[in-house]
Amino acid sequence: MSSKLVLSSLTLLAGISAASVIMEREPTISPSIIICTGNLNTSNGCLTVPVVSAECINLTGGLSFANDELSTARIPGGLVCTFYDQFGCSSPTGEDTVVLTGGDWSFTNAPAVGGPVNFNDRASSFTCSPL
Ligand SMILES: *[C@@H]1O[C@H](CO)[C@@H](O)[C@H](O)[C@H]1NC(C)=O
Ligand SMILES: *[C@@H]1O[C@H](CO)[C@@H](O)[C@H](O)[C@H]1NC(C)=O
Repeated sequence: MSSKLVLSSLTLLAGISAASVIMEREPTISPSIIICTGNLNTSNGCLTVPVVSAECINLTGGLSFANDELSTARIPGGLVCTFYDQFGCSSPTGEDTVVLTGGDWSFTNAPAVGGPVNFNDRASSFTCSPL
């Protein structure tokens, strides 16, 4: 085997293992979002909620203060969170949901399927996934 051929085989192998490392890096971290019944900046009525990818979080139990009361949210970059009008993260038609990506949001003007809607005081459940 020529040394040139050995070198290119090694380069190829290195390329393959680097690619598999990237693919194995599925979300192992648990990011958090901040949800508030009032202004994001006055942490009054705000709560940091750790999110697990694709898990539905009902605004019940310890989060029931926020049910039908959410006004603002802070979503970390790289996440997309869908908020639902109903419990159970269910909306077969995509109606009565808003979809928030990384940033600070007011639910009074939130992106929905057909354009921005006023979703203030409406969310009852949400689910987040990596973008
Ligand atoms: C909240 O704080 C950020 C950063 O300090 C600022 O850019 C933003 O304008 C504030 N928003 C409100 C609604 O006060
Ligand atoms: C959320 O609420 C719905 C409707 O009450 C229920 O079916 C579902 O199991 C709940 N999900 C979780 C994760 O608690």
